[in-house]
Amino acid sequence: MFKIIVPNRSIFRYFSKTSRNRTYVRIVEVGPRDGLQNEKQVVPTSTKIEFINKLSDAGLKSIEATSFVSPKWVPQMADHSEVFMGINKYPDVSYPVLTPNVLGLNAAMKVGAKEVAVFGAASESFSRKNINCTVEESIQRFKEVVNEAKQHGIRIRGYVSCVVGCPYEGPIAPSAVAKVAEALFDVGCYEVSLGDTIGVGTPGSISKMLKEVTKHVSVETLALHCHDTYGQALANILRGIDMGIAVVDSSVGGLGGCPYAKGASGNVASEEVVYMLHGLGIDTGVDLNKLIDAGEYMCAVLGRPSGSKVSRAMLSKKC
Ligand code: HMG
Ligand code: MG
Repeated sequence: MFKIIVPNRSIFRYFSKTSRNRTYVRIVEVGPRDGLQNEKQVVPTSTKIEFINKLSDAGLKSIEATSFVSPKWVPQMADHSEVFMGINKYPDVSYPVLTPNVLGLNAAMKVGAKEVAVFGAASESFSRKNINCTVEESIQRFKEVVNEAKQHGIRIRGYVSCVVGCPYEGPIAPSAVAKVAEALFDVGCYEVSLGDTIGVGTPGSISKMLKEVTKHVSVETLALHCHDTYGQALANILRGIDMGIAVVDSSVGGLGGCPYAKGASGNVASEEVVYMLHGLGIDTGVDLNKLIDAGEYMCAVLGRPSGSKVSRAMLSKKC
């Protein structure tokens, strides 16, 4: 007689958390913000607007439009209000903006932002360089931002930068990441994006970090934000998805970098993420051809070839 072997519950839990039954992953397109904040040339406001409109048209559901930070710190984002007011707002698309403090939040609310993001770090040195305060002070500031934002029905996303490595301190302990991620949820963020700011992570270090963070917060509320300095971003994302991650930040054309993280290259290209996910049978709602058009548009403005291999391969087939 055949014996029916019933797998134990932990196996069911494992499979329910992996990409094997994941049918949808939300992409948070950060190109207009992360992609353009580090560019030497200032992109004209009308071009940014056209770029974001193309991204909306490609079917993305979250597009980080700009940041309401100090123009002395990041002059590339000084036209935040004009950009935000100028874009077509699709009803089913969220257009989050970065707001490091209440001043930024108030400016964002004035132009009708419905979602904002606060950005902290797991590294003290990076926190000071990027937002001019300690990690603990940053959490206090974010509490003020969240309290004010919630009164106006605004959703708040959180970022933790330097989740595996810091340009000033080197490797970062997973426990430090977990602490800041938990603090961001405690103040009221609905989702926390874990940023490998300088792209040093590998599937090994990313999974160690995720294992620790998910002891404290649900994987369903986390996103991964991988820069691709060492070419590991796509592998890191795949590992993250296997561990239950359902939200991925990326930047069309592989644009991006942080002015306060020297040597960091662009984000993982959105085209690569979408191509990989569709290949896994995971829906993103994104039209890859339109996404490629948006990336090519911005790269042409910037005067360089797209950083996306998928874009280059698909366009060469058309020639
Ligand atoms: P501060 O100098 O400590 O602020 O900067 P302050 O409160 O002392 O104010 C100084 C001046 O800035 C004042 O003006 C304020 O009005 C003004 P002044 O009196 O000198 O004329 N100010 C502002 N102006 C416009 N908007 C504001 C604002 N706040 C103050 N919101 C601050 C503190 C946080 C403002 C500054 O450090 C800053 O703007 N930092 C932003 C840095 C940044 O944007 N970095 C890149 C984004 S993070 C990133 O890329 C990582 C991420 O992608 C994830 C990853 O990859 O890991 C998210
Ligand atoms: Mg980034």
